[in-house]
Amino acid sequence: MGPAAREFNFTTRDFERVRRLIHALAGISLSDCKQDLVYGRLARRLRSSGSHSFDAYLNEIEAGNQTEIEFFVNALTTNLTSFFREAHHFPVLAEHAGRHKGAEPYRVWCSACSTGEEAYSIAITLSEVFARQPAKAQIIASDLDTQVLEAARSGVYPLDRVQGIDPARLRRFFQRGSGSTEGLARVRRELAALVRFEQVNLLDSRWPIEPGLDVIFCRNVMIYFDKPTQRKLLQQFLPLLKPDGLLICGHSESLMHCADLFRNLGRTVYAPLGGNPLPAR
Ligand SMILES: C[S@@+](CC[C@H](N)C(=O)[O-])C[C@H]1O[C@@H](n2cnc3c(N)ncnc32)[C@H](O)[C@@H]1O
Repeated sequence: MGPAAREFNFTTRDFERVRRLIHALAGISLSDCKQDLVYGRLARRLRSSGSHSFDAYLNEIEAGNQTEIEFFVNALTTNLTSFFREAHHFPVLAEHAGRHKGAEPYRVWCSACSTGEEAYSIAITLSEVFARQPAKAQIIASDLDTQVLEAARSGVYPLDRVQGIDPARLRRFFQRGSGSTEGLARVRRELAALVRFEQVNLLDSRWPIEPGLDVIFCRNVMIYFDKPTQRKLLQQFLPLLKPDGLLICGHSESLMHCADLFRNLGRTVYAPLGGNPLPAR
């Protein structure tokens, strides 16, 4: 939509304020070309909150209005995801988990889980590996956006979201809705029990995550962060991972600038430096 047709005046100065605020709140760096997208997403909120201008709305955010900050952050995150997205990572996870010995749980942190598809894909993979003892898998799944977390916790998806999943897995791990839930699939209780959802801001300097993780999934979120923010995040991941643990990133997230922290095993799978990990395929 061109500026002339806009319902609210949205100046370059407003955009700069949005940029500064979302960077400070979520680490997200917005490029110049995101101006229309930002307008579209925030204008909806201005309308429903009864705000008359971007200036007044952004004053509320700057004043620390927590309810508004939550809407603001939720509106500006990009939540695109799917079941078994970047499918080559799941055999790597299965192989790594298959080597897990000992009685202690195998722990995975899915650190930007969006609406939950990634966390449940991890849970399906680990249920198959630990077939006799599925509870051995413990998955902590987190996101900053409270709205996507609500969807993730519900574990309910329209059928078209699950149609790419192998039919045998679909039967085993999902329940098909009928009557009022026709057209929906729900994650079975046994699978949902493996995943704990929490709100975590990756930008925070402390996270409610116990160390000793076997794997961290951090896929398709670092692309929104600038390099110093990425580096700080990776430095914080390091002490949480076991020496033979893995960090799994998204397809366009190369950690070349952090080669002193993580070793590239190929296909955006990384090992903490000094560890002795399973080579990725
Ligand atoms: C594009 S989705 C990726 C979802 C999933 N990891 C995948 O690869 O399919 C990016 C997610 O990162 C979340 N996010 C953005 N900034 C964040 C932050 N500072 N802390 C935690 N999550 C954040 C967004 O809310 C969004 O759900």
